[in-house]
Amino acid sequence: MNDPNTVRILAIETSCDETSAAVVVNGRDVRSNIISSQIDLHTIYGGVVPEIASRKHIEKINQVIAEALKKAEMTLDDIDAIGVTYGPGLVGALLVGVAEAKAISYALKKPLIGVHHIEGHICANYIENKDLEPPFLCLIVSGGHTHLVNVLDYGKYEILGRTMDDAAGEAFDKVARAIGLGYPGGPKIEKISREGNPKAIAFPRAHVGGESYHFSFSGMKSAVLNYLNACHMKGTEIVPADVAASFQQAVIDVLAGNAIKALEETRMKKFAIAGGVSANATLRNAIQKACEDRGVSFYCPSPVLCTDNAAMIGAAAYYNYLAGVRSGLDLNAVPNLKLGEVR
Ligand code: KG4
Ligand code: ZN
Repeated sequence: MNDPNTVRILAIETSCDETSAAVVVNGRDVRSNIISSQIDLHTIYGGVVPEIASRKHIEKINQVIAEALKKAEMTLDDIDAIGVTYGPGLVGALLVGVAEAKAISYALKKPLIGVHHIEGHICANYIENKDLEPPFLCLIVSGGHTHLVNVLDYGKYEILGRTMDDAAGEAFDKVARAIGLGYPGGPKIEKISREGNPKAIAFPRAHVGGESYHFSFSGMKSAVLNYLNACHMKGTEIVPADVAASFQQAVIDVLAGNAIKALEETRMKKFAIAGGVSANATLRNAIQKACEDRGVSFYCPSPVLCTDNAAMIGAAAYYNYLAGVRSGLDLNAVPNLKLGEVR
């Protein structure tokens, strides 16, 4: 008989190109977090190919779950609930995780909890920061999303700002492709930027609509493409490290600018970052410094918990479990699920 005060969640994440399963106890104690990345498969195409992602998830999902249980030294009988990402993401990719989670939930007669992927990214911060409790501000920067959120309570989110066009990670990926670095662009831009001058090229910093905390990155991306075209036409030498460093700095200035504005206006004393782009050390350092200068506590997950993983889904599923959230066997993948929306 399981201890009633201990909730062991098997979490599954398949929203994009990582097949991941984790066992998380009481939301913050990660017993295993197995991530099978498909990056090598997609690299040759310069981006994620949805059809390939779904097929690979099908091949890997059972193996990843078995490994997660083994590493946690548990069997399915020890598990109290199953948490799974049901949106947003690639529909075919999400469906693999959702179908698997439903099958396990049905077979074991254990509760099923559908989790919002962005809520998972936010909750990644709870795993290594045992003292972190809402309210806090969180900047979520990933390949599909750029959100500035006021985390009012567990499961309660007020979106202060979001991108009006490209997500920050998407802009990193597109610029990396344009300067011939390949996929995924974020880590490659970060690496080459170390040899570049962030002040070499003055790319624009878009500030959207006066009072809002919204973001825009497509103009910045176009400015890089225009710069590269102009260099080609004039026969001017392109220094990829300078282009990358200048672009990275422009993105960071915009992200940090909104973060600072929100901190000053809300007077919140805790600030967290999350999502794949938050693995970027220059971004982490810039926001950490801005927080320290203002006496604000700064939180960020380890890089492996910034990019897609199932442990963060297990953390989010736990707080939903405590709030009584239960999904039915009619749970479906919702590719454009909005944060705070339950379907
Ligand atoms: O959160 P994530 O793994 O997947 C989504 O939910 O989208 O984020 C992936 C994104 C990609 O666009 C990738 O280029 C970017 O995060 N990324 C980075 C870094 N590591 C990953 N961007 C900048 N610097 C990094 N070190
Ligand atoms: Zn993600």
